[in-house]
Amino acid sequence: MGWKSIVSNSKDRVMKAGPVLRMMSDDRVMRVADAILDAPGRVRAAAGKAAEAWDVLVHGYALPEMDPSMMPDDAMVASPSRPPHNKTSAPSDRAVGLDRDDVSDVQKLEDQMAARISIAGQAGRDVFQKCHEFKAADNARKMGVYPYFRPLDFNDGPEAMLEGRRVLMLGSNNYLGLTTHPKVRAAATEAIRKYGTSMTGSRLVNGSMVLHKELEEKLAAFHGKEAALVFTTGYQVNIATLAALLSNKHTVALIDRSDHASIYDGVRLGVAVGARMVRYRHNDAESLDRQLESLDANTGAFVITDGVFSADGEVANLPDLVRVAKKHRARIMVDDAHALGVIGPVGRGTAAHFGVEQDVDLIGGTFSKSLASIGGWLVGERKVLDYVQHFASSFMFAASAAPPNVAAAMAALEVMQEETWRIDDLRKNYTYMREELTKMGWDVGHSQTAVIPLYVRKDLRTIMMWKELLDNYGVYTNPFISPGVPPKQACLRTSYMATHTKEHLDRALEAFQAVGKKFGILGKGEKGSTKSES
Ligand SMILES: Cc1ncc(COP(=O)(O)O)c(C=O)c1O
Repeated sequence: MGWKSIVSNSKDRVMKAGPVLRMMSDDRVMRVADAILDAPGRVRAAAGKAAEAWDVLVHGYALPEMDPSMMPDDAMVASPSRPPHNKTSAPSDRAVGLDRDDVSDVQKLEDQMAARISIAGQAGRDVFQKCHEFKAADNARKMGVYPYFRPLDFNDGPEAMLEGRRVLMLGSNNYLGLTTHPKVRAAATEAIRKYGTSMTGSRLVNGSMVLHKELEEKLAAFHGKEAALVFTTGYQVNIATLAALLSNKHTVALIDRSDHASIYDGVRLGVAVGARMVRYRHNDAESLDRQLESLDANTGAFVITDGVFSADGEVANLPDLVRVAKKHRARIMVDDAHALGVIGPVGRGTAAHFGVEQDVDLIGGTFSKSLASIGGWLVGERKVLDYVQHFASSFMFAASAAPPNVAAAMAALEVMQEETWRIDDLRKNYTYMREELTKMGWDVGHSQTAVIPLYVRKDLRTIMMWKELLDNYGVYTNPFISPGVPPKQACLRTSYMATHTKEHLDRALEAFQAVGKKFGILGKGEKGSTKSES
């Protein structure tokens, strides 16, 4: 026996001895050991704090990054690259679709809507003060034009029931229509019967079960990646992964201006520990190239983009973004929440659509759209996912996805691959709608997928058109206004399903034409080509 194994064997014996084990598991001993082990870290932290204090003394405090849509364009790293849409002078909100008596109420509401964004920045001794001064939602409720948090009686597919009335659902992300699929329902029901309703714990401790592992294996195989991780929501995928990877001041997140809010929030967690956020122009690889060019050679650059942009259905220019990222040895992550089941062979998403799956380091997404459930997924290199699951507090200290949700997502993933006609029908439906809406004169931006925005550009008018569509035509859309979208990008966001029939779509088109004309967005002619202002 060599001296190394003698030392190691006797160390093992000592460590396993009863008194030693008791001593090591005593809290007080652990605290002393921690303090000793942590001493160099504390010295480094103190030095860091001194450097920070010096920096503040010399340069003053930097303001934290705010939501991009709350900032003026020139405060951003870059502004969007969209070509300007035709400008027409659309009538004022106050003039259309309103009785004279309503005008002053509407004016008040419009002013309050404009003020509501700055309310968040309000100072004062009482943090609740801004809540009491936030009046826009209350007044909108009183006027019957408040569009959010409306409880549906049920939502069983292309139609839903709202306050006892059937409406055509154009506001759901149930792209493949799988929330009511018999196999998906049965899987969720069976999981509840077998495992109960919740894991009541996080993945790290008691919240992982065989179902999570099984789905992880299937997701990894589906994407041709080494490993997968199942999360409780898609939002958590981004905040957890980005917080874990943007862990110090030597890392920079390069994000598309139009990335989803969860990406911004994840990056902010990195910014809180010193990482930097740089925004490049929307879907513009040249802008990304310039930003990467300007970084120090020693900076860890991490590019994060939506695969399909959530607000407008545009597909990311992934081949160019990947090429630029590789050129600068930056890592790249794609959020495919709106791409899974929508684009790519067998609905495999954006990277597969462009044939660059192996060049994208991490791909994430949600179960809450094509997969008809709740939860999130991330695929990539095993070592990276292992790091994320040990360093992301929002993953480690939040309860895991519940058994029925995991089982439903797994069944939906299977159905998606078995019933590929759903993907074909979805594509036919959104292509038909995009073409017809464009012919009609609607500005639908750069949508290429199942999300089609109808740009109205003004917040209040968007809300009023939403109401008209719902009340008078039974058509349910989602009004997107600032700060959910950048100023002047207000739109009626519509989304389509494989299970919408041609009759559904034609009914929607008729309603969009009538309401577009009434509110002055479309010209009076049969095929007006008046586009809204940008
Ligand atoms: C692009 C994108 N990422 C992440 C999310 C968050 O997913 P989830 O709803 O599962 O939290 C969404 C949801 O709307 C999304 O659109």
